[in-house]
Amino acid sequence: MRIDIITVLPELLRSPFEASILKRAIEKELVEVHLHNLREFSIGNYNQVDDYQFGGGAGMVLMLEPIDKCIAKLKAERDYDEVIYMSPDGATLNQSMANGLSLKKNLIILCGHYKGVDQRVRDLFITKEISIGDYVLSGGELAAAVLSDTIIRLIPGVLNDETSALTDTFQDNLLAPPVYTRPSDYKGHKVPEVLLSGNFPKIEKWREEQALKRTEKLRPDLLE
Ligand code: ADE
Repeated sequence: MRIDIITVLPELLRSPFEASILKRAIEKELVEVHLHNLREFSIGNYNQVDDYQFGGGAGMVLMLEPIDKCIAKLKAERDYDEVIYMSPDGATLNQSMANGLSLKKNLIILCGHYKGVDQRVRDLFITKEISIGDYVLSGGELAAAVLSDTIIRLIPGVLNDETSALTDTFQDNLLAPPVYTRPSDYKGHKVPEVLLSGNFPKIEKWREEQALKRTEKLRPDLLE
């Protein structure tokens, strides 16, 4: 898979891809992530990428031309499955969207800023608008990092234990059961006996019950 991220703040997006699981996925060549600084496609002498909105009103708007140039350059090099715009107006990201996107080959992610992008960018180029929740961020960069992380960890071979993404919270619309590690008794706070029993069918059954109980208590909406 290849992800191209278009942003006015590439520095905000570097570190998530330079640590831990995402770094390893890139090193193993399971994914390529390319950051594109929109300023390199700016127009005029002032590296301009944004302007005042027609009709008046506070806030700058990212201009059509630099984004057109950047997307055209990328599209000339390969075909893209989706051109995604990160925006609070988009469909709220969930695990099933991440599962679907993890099967794609090439993705462009455009990060909005200030008041957003010229509507014509959305009309002409964007195939999917995605929000990471009903709150407003200063820009789409952190949202793009969240989206990339949730997609990349699902690519086969990225997680060491191939099955571990399958047992994540949400994969079956249930929250994950509680997990414990050593010591089995910490100052009298004990790990549930069943987990120490070595009886794997019994452990599996306990985990399923716990997942259901937890979901009923914390996220009953998932069961509707
Ligand atoms: N840009 C600003 N806020 C956002 C959000 N909640 N999700 C995605 N992109 C955003």
